[in-house]
Amino acid sequence: MALLTQSPYKAKTFDIYGLEGISDQTLEVHLGLYAGYVKNTNLLTEQLIDMAHRGAASAANPAYAEITRRLGFEYNGMVLHELYFGNMTKDGGREGPGASDLGRALGDSFGDLETWRQDFTAVGGLRGVGWAVTYLDLATGRLSNHWISLHQDGNVAGFKPVIVMDVWEHAFLLDYKPAERSKYIESFMVNLDWNAAEGRFSGKAERPVG
Ligand SMILES: [Fe+2]
Repeated sequence: MALLTQSPYKAKTFDIYGLEGISDQTLEVHLGLYAGYVKNTNLLTEQLIDMAHRGAASAANPAYAEITRRLGFEYNGMVLHELYFGNMTKDGGREGPGASDLGRALGDSFGDLETWRQDFTAVGGLRGVGWAVTYLDLATGRLSNHWISLHQDGNVAGFKPVIVMDVWEHAFLLDYKPAERSKYIESFMVNLDWNAAEGRFSGKAERPVG
């Protein structure tokens, strides 16, 4: 008997090969890792519902507790990767946000675009593996940059991710040395899809449809 009435998540496809400074080989490996998060998200969700059906959903059940604690890692690993792949394009992002609403909001929140860029780059350079994310506070319209450790620590509840950069070493290790993260970040900036970011900011685009 199928326990879930909703369809499981499916790994989405992204037309992002041919980027500058981030090789197709890196993207291929990285998309494979992303597919693993989708698979684990579905698996853990199914296991938890199965436990609930069997009356095994209990904090006293170590398996239930452990799987529940892992949800944040797997779900965020899936969603953040979709946002990351979804905000890169081989058509390049050199021009910046221009006179778009997002460009204006970044100016309002950081003073000017260059200050946002420096701050976002600095966040991405923090030690350890994680993510740099520019979030939109939907309540105030303010944008702010945040560091996320692993996939789950540092996400701001209710804030909307607008620009998402993966700085785990697997995102660049085939193209750069571990100490060359800054070169990878420069490449990310070159490939940043400002149209995708603008779509998220304006509410016209959410996570990509695969
Ligand atoms: Fe990643």
